[in-house]
Amino acid sequence: MSELGTIKKPIAEELEIFEKRFKDSMKSSVPLLDRITYYIVQRKGKQVRPMFVFLCAKIFGPIKNETYLAASLIELCHTASLVHDDVVDDSHLRRGVFSINALWKNKIAVIVGDYLLSKGLLLAVEHEQYQTLKIISTAVKELTEGELLQIEKARKLDITEEVYFDVIRQKTASLMAAACSAGASSAGRSKEEIADFKKFGESAGMAFQIKDDLFDYGFNNVGKPTGIDIKEKKMTLPLIHALTNCSPKEKKSILNKLKRKSESKQVRKEIIAFTKSYGGIDYAEQVMNQFKDQAISLLEKYPSNEAMTSLKLLVNFVVARNS
Ligand code: FPP
Ligand code: MG
Repeated sequence: MSELGTIKKPIAEELEIFEKRFKDSMKSSVPLLDRITYYIVQRKGKQVRPMFVFLCAKIFGPIKNETYLAASLIELCHTASLVHDDVVDDSHLRRGVFSINALWKNKIAVIVGDYLLSKGLLLAVEHEQYQTLKIISTAVKELTEGELLQIEKARKLDITEEVYFDVIRQKTASLMAAACSAGASSAGRSKEEIADFKKFGESAGMAFQIKDDLFDYGFNNVGKPTGIDIKEKKMTLPLIHALTNCSPKEKKSILNKLKRKSESKQVRKEIIAFTKSYGGIDYAEQVMNQFKDQAISLLEKYPSNEAMTSLKLLVNFVVARNS
C-alpha cells in the first residue's frame, strides 16, 4: 500500500462517500459549468484538506454528517481559490494538466471560481452549519488578504522573513487551520479543543507551503512549472534567506535582475544557483521541519488511536511529499 493509502486507511470509507458528495455539490444545470466541474473532479488532487477534516474528527469517534459537510465546504473553497490563483499567477498547469484558465480563458475561470465558492457557502447555509461557515469564511477572508499582501510585496521586492510568514500563514495555513478546527468542531468538541486543532492545522499548513515553495526550486516533477515564483517576482523563504546573508552589492544585483529580467530563463537559473549557494534550500527545509514538529507536539494530549497515527503520518507526508 502506498504511503497515502496507509494514511487514508482509517477514513477510507468516509473518503469514498465524500467524493460522491463533493461531486454532487458542484452540479449545475448550465452545461458549460457541468463540463468544467467534471474536468475539475477528474484532475482531483491529493485531497489533503478533506483528509485533515476527517482525521481530526475521527480521533474523537465515528464520523457524522457535519464532518462530511465541513470537508465539502473546505474542498469547494480550496478548489475555488486554486482556479482563481491560476488566473492571478497566469499559470497554465495545475496538477500536471492544463489549468481552467488555460483551457477556457480567464473570463470563464474567474466565474467558475465564484460559482464554486457560492456553492460552498450555500451548502453550509442549507444545512445550517453556521459554526463551520464561520470558521471557513474567516479563512477565505485571510486567503484573499494573504494573496494581496503577496502581490504588494512582489511589486516592491521588499519582503522580509517575517512578512513571508504572514503571507503563507494567511494564504495557505489559514485554510489548513480551518480544515482541522472544522473537523474538531464537527465532532462536537469544546472551544479549547477546537482552538488546539486550529493551531495544529496552522503549523502543518506553514510546513505545507514552505514545501510547496521549495518545489519552485525544481527538485521534483510536481506537475507545476518550476521557477514560476521567481518569474512572478514572488520571493519565498529560500531566496529571502540568501538575500539576508549575501553582501549588499550582491543583493542589489540580484534584486535588479529580479526586477528587470525575471522573464529570462537564464536569470531564473542564476537566481536559483545564488539561492542554493547561500544555503537557502537547507534553511527553508530546517524551518519547515520546525513547523512540522510544532504541529505534532500539539497532538500529544489527545487520544492515541488509529486516526491519530494517520494524522501524524499525514503531517510527515506534507513535508516529505514529492508532489
Ligand atoms: C496558491 O498559492 C494559492 C493560494 C494558497 C490562495 C489563493 C487565493 C486566492 C486567489 C483568493 C481567492 C479565493 C477564493 C476562495 C475564491 P501559490 O500560487 O503559491 O501555489 P501554487 O504553486 O499551487 O499555485
Ligand atoms: Mg499559484
